[in-house]
Amino acid sequence: MSRRLWLVLMLLIATALVVAACGGGESEPTQEEAAQPEAEAVVTEEAPMEEAAATEEAPMEEAAATEEAPMEEAAATEEAAAGEMAEAAGLTRDFEGTNLRVWFGSVGDEVGSYRNLIEEFTAQTGINVEVVQSPQSATDNLAQILQFMGAQSGELDVYQIDVIWPGILAEHAADLSQYIPQEEIDAHFPAIIENNTVDGKLVGLPWFTDAGLLYYRTDLLEKYGYDGPPQTWDELQEMAQTIQDGERSEGNDSFWGFVWQGNNYEGLTCDALEWQVTEGGGRIIEPDGTITVNNPATAAALTRAAGWVDTISPPGVTAYQEEDARGVWQSGNAAFMRNWPYAYALGNSEDSPIAGNFDVSPLPQGAGNRSAATLGGWQLMIPQYSQNAEAAAMFVRYMAGPVGQKSRAITNSYLPTIESLYSDPEVLEAQPFMERLYDVFTSAVARPSTVTGELYNEVSAAYFNGVHSVLTGSATAEDALLDIEDELIDITGFEPGPLTTQ
Ligand code: GLC
Repeated sequence: MSRRLWLVLMLLIATALVVAACGGGESEPTQEEAAQPEAEAVVTEEAPMEEAAATEEAPMEEAAATEEAPMEEAAATEEAAAGEMAEAAGLTRDFEGTNLRVWFGSVGDEVGSYRNLIEEFTAQTGINVEVVQSPQSATDNLAQILQFMGAQSGELDVYQIDVIWPGILAEHAADLSQYIPQEEIDAHFPAIIENNTVDGKLVGLPWFTDAGLLYYRTDLLEKYGYDGPPQTWDELQEMAQTIQDGERSEGNDSFWGFVWQGNNYEGLTCDALEWQVTEGGGRIIEPDGTITVNNPATAAALTRAAGWVDTISPPGVTAYQEEDARGVWQSGNAAFMRNWPYAYALGNSEDSPIAGNFDVSPLPQGAGNRSAATLGGWQLMIPQYSQNAEAAAMFVRYMAGPVGQKSRAITNSYLPTIESLYSDPEVLEAQPFMERLYDVFTSAVARPSTVTGELYNEVSAAYFNGVHSVLTGSATAEDALLDIEDELIDITGFEPGPLTTQ
């Protein structure tokens, strides 16, 4: 076994120990539980600005109690493997003693997925890294990042940024191509590098990609006589209703057919784009700048989704974000869930009541006779205002390079952006769906963020607020789409036009 393989194994064992240490026998995951940091020296809840602190979501006090991981035995082996790994990741001790502060995500077990990597990075480089956790909602997260940027704040050295933000944040970003060897950049999917490149500037190095998936309960499908996941939304509705009726009649009043993200935030843009693309309703604004959102197929898709609320989906689904849907799903109270790949590893974790009883498939088709997954994913950006750009670049290369991506794919099912990891036997053994659904990930549908650039956030808000009004019954789909179209014309100055491609 090579030394690097050995190290990955050690990381896995260490993670397993941490999971075991934090388990506590509870069946339903909570945001707080999932986001507990292991080592308070590494992860802090303290946001550097008042505004950030005010919306901090996860109280961390309990974290200290679980701090001691029995890592001694692993340490010696890790040290032995360190030389080779340090070389591969370009790690040096040139910036020993530097303190980096990084703005990282906290959805699901995101904190657990990077904790060991950060510890290893510090051990190798002598660079200290303090994590400041961003809000779970991408919409709130961006609002806070824009405050730091507006103040040209050097308080944070690295930001985890969404795949839709390069056009919004480009003016504040350092050009990573100045710090990262070209062959390391070329190892990532070219389409994501292109997405992250604005006017020739590489705004972020891809960290993981994302695509919407249908999660389904294999045990319940079998129990109710279905031989596979639904191929169409009509089938999903019928199956969800049947299973929900059956489970409730057996006494589980909390059971629901289908959970998803219906809150008015960026996540709803992702879900609704999938509904409308599968119906043949286009992409809101097409890559050539034509505003196509107001069309009958999209109206039909939104009307159908509104019909799920309080029938096969909980009435509260119109306030659900990713972790709310996962909470219902992972406690065993839903037949189907739309979510991102991170929920796969969590659903199979040792203390999960549904471990081994679910699988994932492409989302169902509508009248457009196609499935669709919205393209998501996160990148690492260094702001121009950082005083530690070189140390930060070393950190970014390590976290988003092969060592960081492989570890997080194995332990937390984050989809790599480094193409070669999709043929890595250890990754595929840990996460078999990554090979099976490879085409879903690589053909995911992008939101209109490239064509709208720095205006994307306003565009998306107009769209998700309009869609939300349909879900809550305060507008018909036809009226809401007319309004969205008007707003998009105002925001972008683009023209509406007919859908020419699907
Ligand atoms: C996931 C996706 C991201 C998206 C967000 C919406 O984090 O990776 O691209 O914007 O969900 O909630």
